[in-house]
Amino acid sequence: MKKLAIVILSALVLCLGWVGQGHSGHGEKRQVKKAILLVAFGTSIPRAQKAFDHIDKAVKETFPRVEVRWAFTSKIIRKKLAKQGKLLDSPVVALSRLMEEGYTHVAVLSLHTIAGEEFHDLYVNAHKFVEMEEGFERLLVARPLLSSHTDLVRVAKAMIKHFPKDRTKRDAVVLMGHGSAHHPADFTYMAMNYVFWEMDPLVFVGTVEGRPTIEQILSKLKTAKVKKAFLVPLMSVAGDHAINDMAGPEPDSWKSVIENVGIKAIPILKGTAEYPEVVDIWVDHLKRAFSHFN
Ligand code: CO
Repeated sequence: MKKLAIVILSALVLCLGWVGQGHSGHGEKRQVKKAILLVAFGTSIPRAQKAFDHIDKAVKETFPRVEVRWAFTSKIIRKKLAKQGKLLDSPVVALSRLMEEGYTHVAVLSLHTIAGEEFHDLYVNAHKFVEMEEGFERLLVARPLLSSHTDLVRVAKAMIKHFPKDRTKRDAVVLMGHGSAHHPADFTYMAMNYVFWEMDPLVFVGTVEGRPTIEQILSKLKTAKVKKAFLVPLMSVAGDHAINDMAGPEPDSWKSVIENVGIKAIPILKGTAEYPEVVDIWVDHLKRAFSHFN
């Protein structure tokens, strides 16, 4: 009996010792190698892709000695661009490459607007790379754009600052967010409406796939007796949704729907990644995550 207890105890000690070595693989200490992975939904519109250059530049200036890579969460976009000869990584492929190249600490920045479906999947999948044998020692996923009340206020201020100079006090601004019909983070757009309303009551936030819907916004425009509205994307890039669903000529585009009730609609094709003050917010989120590596 005593013998058995000793065997069990020593087995336990061995096990603990082995687990304690963690990811350092067979005991040797790995050299610390840090990387940043920037993750966006992606866009197939070349002009819109340029918006990502602002973020790339800002991140490389902030972290001059850190490896910076990109990945895109949309499979449809990756497929489209692959046909044009542009091979883009998914987050899983980009993380696999970093793992294979011996990176030990990775900060992932979500360039999504809300912590919705895309962010959620990214968060879950990225953390698997810590659990893997030979995986990262540390991985942190920085938060998307609208992650705190402070973020909402900063984004609202930045956007208001860049609204067209020729906008009069009676002109409205309608922002188009993506929205998420199946994710609780869709509420973020309601909160964003409230934050804007406190600063500028003629700014309204609607969504393509979630709430508020364009119909809800339309009734608000009518109540406020608005005659003219600027349409602005609340998405990192002015891609397909902005060009077609917001500004397009189809009868169900926001421009058409708004003009249909006698309100002049002027689309502005500029993504949030083109506002320097908005880029700063994303970079701040990344800095906060990265600071945990020091
Ligand atoms: Co979409």
